[in-house]
Amino acid sequence: MARKPSLRQLIEWDHRFLWHPFTQMQEWEQEEPLIIERGSGPYLIDTEGRKYLDGTSSVWVNLHGHRHPALDRAVKKQLGKIAHSTLLGASNQPAIELARELTRIAPKGLAHVFYSDDGSTAVEVALKMAVQYWQQRHHEAGLKNTFLHLKLAYHGDTIGAVSVCGIELFHARFKPLLFPTIEAEPPYCYRCPLKLTYPSCHMACIDPIEEILSIRHRELAGFIIEPLIQAAAGMITQQAGYLRRIRELCTKYKVLLIADEVATGFGRTGKMFACQHEGVTPDLMAISKGLTGGYMPLAATLTTDEIYRAFLGPYDEFKSFFHGHSYTGNPLGCAVALANLNIFRTEGTLARVRSKIKSLSRLLQPLCALHHVGDIRLQGLMVGIELVRDKTTKEPYPPNARIGHRVAAVARKGGLLIRPLGNVIVLLPPLSISEDELARMVGILYEAIATQTKKEEQDKKR
Ligand SMILES: Cc1ncc(COP(=O)(O)O)c(C=O)c1O
Repeated sequence: MARKPSLRQLIEWDHRFLWHPFTQMQEWEQEEPLIIERGSGPYLIDTEGRKYLDGTSSVWVNLHGHRHPALDRAVKKQLGKIAHSTLLGASNQPAIELARELTRIAPKGLAHVFYSDDGSTAVEVALKMAVQYWQQRHHEAGLKNTFLHLKLAYHGDTIGAVSVCGIELFHARFKPLLFPTIEAEPPYCYRCPLKLTYPSCHMACIDPIEEILSIRHRELAGFIIEPLIQAAAGMITQQAGYLRRIRELCTKYKVLLIADEVATGFGRTGKMFACQHEGVTPDLMAISKGLTGGYMPLAATLTTDEIYRAFLGPYDEFKSFFHGHSYTGNPLGCAVALANLNIFRTEGTLARVRSKIKSLSRLLQPLCALHHVGDIRLQGLMVGIELVRDKTTKEPYPPNARIGHRVAAVARKGGLLIRPLGNVIVLLPPLSISEDELARMVGILYEAIATQTKKEEQDKKR
């Protein structure tokens, strides 16, 4: 048997062979990489046996903790039958059962499930379905082929998804590859693009959206939105009623509403899906991340009967949806997703999450007093803490201050793993986190922000 590589060897191989996502590798090569070996509940354990609280739910995927016995069992049980078979020309039991289950828990009216592999592909599927749907409803044929989206939106890294994104830092370079879209201002209350204040603004940021829809609806196949919270934008939360108003406008102007629930789905906001807070049914809904409880890459795009039926017809009308991936409907992923949904029932996950949201909100209060905490945004168990150089003027830290990165490094020493979004510190614990662990997470975060922002202040004075 091959000898287990030493830690030094692993680090050397990591630096030599691995290219990490969203990472400046020159910086990475200077740092000691964290190599995770095991997990247990909300903890990640590295090769040296050091334990860290998983403050990002392993980038927003984990729900019930690591090594949950029911999820481990589901994977092993399915492995005893088969790991993978295709949905092209065949079906499989876990994929069938999961599709049925998803339509049961999804916003009412979403009746069909198309599988893919990750959040980006679920979004690609939604965009393509929307365009093809309009083509096949002949009176709008060929016209409705672009999308409305919010600035700062993040819907994934494949080219179609990037076309409807709006984060300059990530996407500007790829502009030559992207299809044209229409952008609207996001409801970013802390830095309101209209310089207004909620609630006296009466959500005036929706007016320009209505104007776009009224003028350009003939070109618009859909409006894609992250419901309730633009996560990767820096956890920009929407006020109550915002999404419902967007739904009404999309219906009025015959533009499909595409809800990207990749980050918000599966209990993160306190309900199974964020749309359910507003009683909204989108026309298409993209899900992934928490779908398998953070165990396997699996995604799905859900849609209505109306859209599904527009794709039916004799073969030679060529209305089929010509899209699919090798691992579409992977039985291992679907089996663990079924077990994941079962845990919501057996452990009463959503009811528990709701009480944790209240505790988290209370625990975060002391952070408001810190000198460099500009804004704290909370939606369910999704938290964004925007750090600013000057709280009065809201002057942001410049990118080279690397403030988020440095706070994360201090938190790691304290035993908490987080990953910032620029100057926004993100906390996104697994839903199964206990109240004590939640308090510990926030405590470490408080210390890390206080220490690092003070150090930055002192360095600046020097
Ligand atoms: C809202 C949203 N949509 C899509 C994606 C892309 O998902 P994936 O990274 O699985 O492709 C993400 C990822 O963070 C996301 O937050």
